Amino acid sequence: MSYSNYHPVYLALSGRLIVIVGGGSVAVEKLESLLPTGASISVVAPEVCDKILHWYADGQIAWHKRPFQDSDIDGAFMVIAGTDDADLNARIYDLGDAAGKLTNSVDDPDHCNFIMAAIARSGPMQVAVSSAGCSPALAQRVRNRIQSEILTDDLGNLAEYLGDRRAAVKAALPTYRARKTFWEKAIDSDLPKILATEGTAFADVYFEGLLRRSVIQWSEPASVESSKVYLIGAGPGDPGLLTLRAVEVLKQADVVVYDRLVNPIVLGYARPDAICLYAGKERGTPGQPRQDAIQAQLIRYALQGKTVVRLKGGDPFVFGRGGEEMLALAEAGVPFEVVPGISSSVAAPAAAHIPVTHRGVSTAFAVFAGHEADDRPGDRIPWQAAAAIPTAVFLMGVERLPLIVSRLIAEGRSADTPVAIVSNATMSNQAVVTGTLETIVEIAKGVEPPAVIVVGEVVRVREQLVPLLKQSGALETVAA
Ligand SMILES: C[S@@+](CC[C@H](N)C(=O)[O-])C[C@H]1O[C@@H](n2cnc3c(N)ncnc32)[C@H](O)[C@@H]1O
Repeated sequence: MSYSNYHPVYLALSGRLIVIVGGGSVAVEKLESLLPTGASISVVAPEVCDKILHWYADGQIAWHKRPFQDSDIDGAFMVIAGTDDADLNARIYDLGDAAGKLTNSVDDPDHCNFIMAAIARSGPMQVAVSSAGCSPALAQRVRNRIQSEILTDDLGNLAEYLGDRRAAVKAALPTYRARKTFWEKAIDSDLPKILATEGTAFADVYFEGLLRRSVIQWSEPASVESSKVYLIGAGPGDPGLLTLRAVEVLKQADVVVYDRLVNPIVLGYARPDAICLYAGKERGTPGQPRQDAIQAQLIRYALQGKTVVRLKGGDPFVFGRGGEEMLALAEAGVPFEVVPGISSSVAAPAAAHIPVTHRGVSTAFAVFAGHEADDRPGDRIPWQAAAAIPTAVFLMGVERLPLIVSRLIAEGRSADTPVAIVSNATMSNQAVVTGTLETIVEIAKGVEPPAVIVVGEVVRVREQLVPLLKQSGALETVAA
């Protein structure tokens, strides 16, 4: 038989019948190796040595106290012939092999359809060593080295630890490839060292972190398509307030068309070879022709098969003309996706510690475009509603502040109503000024856009906060 004819396997022997013929030291050696498997072992021999007698008396094995009979192998899963009679051993092998049973005639490779390996163990770890029957003594020697130098107690504990967590990893990472990569990473990580030196509780914290990262890494990436336009809200300014979806799409875009209030740092998420086009409508430039040109540009790039991002400050549909762009794309038959953003209308008050609604103070808020607040015919601000709503938020209103104030007072809003103006919200140069409808115009002199004006009693929440934070020494959080 050639060496490569042997292939190691680990047999599940629990409850299976193993027949061992012979009662001497050879049988003892096999019994010592097989008893821990939970197999049901039957010894056939007229006489047995003391050790076997002890196992028999202890109920660990059955013993048929007589010479071998052919019918002894009936029902056996494995047969081991270990008598001193080579002819009998060979005959038992012929019988067992013909009956399709795993049969081993000890120390006689020609009469074996399997051989037993020398085993090194530590907990659930087992290394089986074989010399393909050439030299069991050499295999034993190799086994001993593996046992003393490699299969340390730590390794056994690690195997047990990992085994206990297999089901959890299978549930968290559904694909075979993801699990294989995870286990390789875990074994090569600091986990074995932490388990050995710090114990299970510390190892668990580390293990769970590794698993969480793998789950994120292997979670299905949401698709980003070519020939499509993504209308994305970039939030109020702080790049940390971009959505995960916005970053995901930006990373894959071929073209990014961005507005004036988009923080340039955000563009850093785009590929180095992406085309980034500024589409800011500077004040004073004619609006509609520029808007038409932007829409035509989006459509052109999408029809060229490119992944196009239209990046707008805040949310694309809060005074962002996102609605018009969406309609233009639909009309041109260009697929699109809207990725909402955090609007400055809520982010600026929040960043200044002003809740736009507050129990007992404000049950509603509305957002107005302050630059519509001139007295030309077709004035679009519903002033009565603006004066009546508990919290009125004005975007693009700094330059028209005097007009906004006078119209609100004219519609019956008390001159004592608190007002806050938050400029460059969420950015490092964020600034907040507060006053009342009566005083704010004077106070806000010098405030530059972009800024959000908040009118309503909710502004007092920020004022309540200041003394509280002074007490706790955390005042700098509302200093701006
Ligand atoms: C054309 S509107 C766009 C609003 C945007 N779509 C949104 O949802 O925030 C521009 C106005 O938003 C407000 N704004 C935008 N970013 C701001 C920021 N970081 N701080 C204060 N106001 C901001 C200002 O009122 C600015 O004039």
